[in-house]
Amino acid sequence: MSESRSHEGLKPVQEYGILALLVLIAVPLSMWMGLRDGLDLVKRADWKRETAVPAAAPAKGTADAAPPSTPEGVKRGEAVFQANCVACHGSNADGKGPAAVAFTPPPRDFTDPKAKWTQGRSPAEVFATIAEGVQGTGMAGFAASLSEAQRWDLTHYIRSLPGIGKSADAEDP
Ligand code: HEC
Repeated sequence: MSESRSHEGLKPVQEYGILALLVLIAVPLSMWMGLRDGLDLVKRADWKRETAVPAAAPAKGTADAAPPSTPEGVKRGEAVFQANCVACHGSNADGKGPAAVAFTPPPRDFTDPKAKWTQGRSPAEVFATIAEGVQGTGMAGFAASLSEAQRWDLTHYIRSLPGIGKSADAEDP
């Protein structure tokens, strides 16, 4: 009788002991496994990033997706220019459109390599100018009225003109 009582007295201690042991093993184990899975995910994401993204450093802003200039794109750009820009910039792109006199500063002359550009002549900058316009001037933004593809074609067309100058990727001094 006394033996069975002492056995009953020990039992809870044994049970708690096993439980505590389980907790002591299970908690760090699950934490470690979670951490390992997390690290695996990070590693896999790293791998994906390395393989999915082209090596070229992305240019600023929307130019991340800058398509290369092609003769066809320049041609399409010229058509978009004739349809949307000549009132001010002129059909010869010389800044002498019929409405040009109404604007101070005047529309940019894209045929003059010495023309002073205010927003920069790199592909990203010209693209941004066409999308957003130039605040406080007659140059409006065309992000709403022209598609992104049309704006890139325009960018490539304008950059094919003499006014872009020799150092086409350089900012204006
Ligand atoms: C209502 C007149 C007007 C129209 C239409 C117009 N522009 Fe302009 N644009 C201007 C004026 C004015 C400036 C000069 C802004 C300045 O000096 O900062 C200018 C400047 C520019 C510049 C040069 C900004 C710089 O960095 O100096 C680009 C590029 C340009 N326009 C592209 C276009 C394109 C492309 C179109 C047609 C989709 C167009 N513009 C339609 C008036 C116009």
